[in-house]
Amino acid sequence: MRQELETLGQTAQTTLIEITDSEMLNKWHVKYIGRKGAITTMLRRVGELSKEERPAFGKRANELKKELEHAYQSREYEIKASEMKQAFAVGSIDVTLPGRPIERGRLHPSTQTLRLIYQIWADMGFQIYRSREVELDEYNFQMLNMPPHHPARDMQDTFYTTKENVLLRTHTSPGQIRAMHEYHPEPIRIILPGMVFRYEQITPSKEIQFHQVEGLAVGRNITMTDLKGTLNSFAQRIFGKGRPTRFRASHFPFTEPSAEMDVQCILCHGKGCRVCKHTGWMEILGCGMVHPTVLRYGGYDPSEFTGFAFGMGPERIVMLRHGIEDIRYFWGNDLKNL
Ligand code: PHE
Repeated sequence: MRQELETLGQTAQTTLIEITDSEMLNKWHVKYIGRKGAITTMLRRVGELSKEERPAFGKRANELKKELEHAYQSREYEIKASEMKQAFAVGSIDVTLPGRPIERGRLHPSTQTLRLIYQIWADMGFQIYRSREVELDEYNFQMLNMPPHHPARDMQDTFYTTKENVLLRTHTSPGQIRAMHEYHPEPIRIILPGMVFRYEQITPSKEIQFHQVEGLAVGRNITMTDLKGTLNSFAQRIFGKGRPTRFRASHFPFTEPSAEMDVQCILCHGKGCRVCKHTGWMEILGCGMVHPTVLRYGGYDPSEFTGFAFGMGPERIVMLRHGIEDIRYFWGNDLKNL
């Protein structure tokens, strides 16, 4: 039986050398060293031997199996290499085909700009405060000094829900009241970013949803000078150092006095172009000192506390910074446009 084992080993080795393709190689593996292969079968017959002969036989059989396994692996490597060479030769792999394009992804321009805005305000000590998108009439209007039938409501056409008094917020300002209720009587320094909704006809310059970033500072000695200085610093960070700004008197029911801030047009540098409508200036936000009535609704005594607030539209900032002329691109889902 020992002799039989050696002959088996030799036959296996010689047939292996003659094999030239993977299919035959697999068959060889099954026949000689597989789980039901010749070597295993011989090992099972070890009982036919005398007790003394068994250990040496078993040892040799296992050795042989290892040798064959080794030979199999190097033959496999040779065969694979020659098969690949052959495949190249007949052209089944066309190396002249263009490579697969790498998919490129990036954040939405609104998200990029929002993050930049967060960073700038964070550097000035403003925390992010998240407020709800579905609001009550009281918060969106009444406590912001816009009682029912106030004409300013018409400027923000509203999506109402089927539930009375429940609406989609038309601006982030209702968050001011929610924050004041939460922070009272502590001083406040926050920004309130989020989506707002308006019931508008969609045009290149009007969308039914867009982002706003609201800002609110409430404290004991806050003045209009703080408002101007803070917003000026912001403008220098986002539009570049040395960029001229100006404040124009304006009106919002929830601030008094109210203003709008313009920056010198970053595309024509004040000469006048299509984007700035030939004025040389771009309007970027509304702001003002928090109205005493609003402070009172928020729980702060206006004889002790003052504050400033502002609201800006990141999409508008993106459009101005990149000369994008159609606001519908933002939710249009066409990567070509943004
Ligand atoms: N809420 C105002 C708007 O929608 C912007 C604003 C916020 C103005 C805070 C003044 C103060 O347009």
